[in-house]
Amino acid sequence: MKSIVAVDNNWGIGKGGGMCVSLPGDLKYFREQTMGKIIVMGRATFETLPGKEPLSGRVNIVLSRNPDFQRPACIVCRSMGGLFKVLESYNMEDVFIIGGEAVYRQFGPYCNAHLVTKIDGAFDADRHYENLDERGDLELVWESEVHNDGGVEYRFTEYRRK
Ligand SMILES: NC(=O)c1ccc[n+]([C@@H]2O[C@H](COP(=O)([O-])OP(=O)(O)OC[C@H]3O[C@@H](n4cnc5c(N)ncnc54)[C@H](OP(=O)(O)O)[C@@H]3O)[C@@H](O)[C@H]2O)c1
Repeated sequence: MKSIVAVDNNWGIGKGGGMCVSLPGDLKYFREQTMGKIIVMGRATFETLPGKEPLSGRVNIVLSRNPDFQRPACIVCRSMGGLFKVLESYNMEDVFIIGGEAVYRQFGPYCNAHLVTKIDGAFDADRHYENLDERGDLELVWESEVHNDGGVEYRFTEYRRK
C-alpha cells in the first residue's frame, strides 16, 4: 500500500476542510498515479471531491463510522478491520491512501511508499502529515525537478521503506 499527499514546508496538508493550495500539475500527477487503482479516503476528504462524487476510473473506498453513510459507486468501510477485509480482494501494490490527516495517520505505518508533493510555502494549515524525515525506517529515494504553477514551486518526491 502507498500513500499520496501534497505537503507544505511544515508538512501541512489542509486548512478549513480544504486543500491549502490547488496546483494543476499536482492534480495531473495524482490522476496519473491513481488512475485504474484503488483509492482509500476518509469521509471528510470524500466531501471535498468535486461534486462530492467518487473519482472516475478508480475504485473509491470511503471510511466512515456513520452507519447511515452510503454513496453510489463507493465502497464504504466502517473500521480499519473492515477495510483490510475488503482489500484482500485487491493487489496491495495498487492501493493508495489519499487522506486526510486522520486516515494518513492510521494507515501511514502500513505504507511501503509515500508519494509526497513538496510545496515550497507555509500555509497556516490545520491538518498535517507525519514528518517523514523523522522516520528512521524510511528513505527519500527520488525527487523530481522543481515545477511551478502560478508562481508556486513544488517537486514530487518518493519515500520508501529501507
Ligand atoms: N494535501 C493533501 O494531499 C490532502 C489530501 C487529502 C485530504 N487533505 C485535507 O485533509 C483534511 C481532511 O482530513 P481530516 O483528518 O479532517 O479528515 P479525513 O481523514 O479525510 O476523514 C476523517 C473521517 O473519516 C472517517 N474515519 C477515519 N478513520 C476511520 C476508521 N478507522 N473507521 C471508520 N471511519 C473512519 C470518519 O468519518 P465519520 O465522521 O463519517 O465517521 C472521520 O471523521 C482536509 O483539509 C483536506 O483538504 C489534504
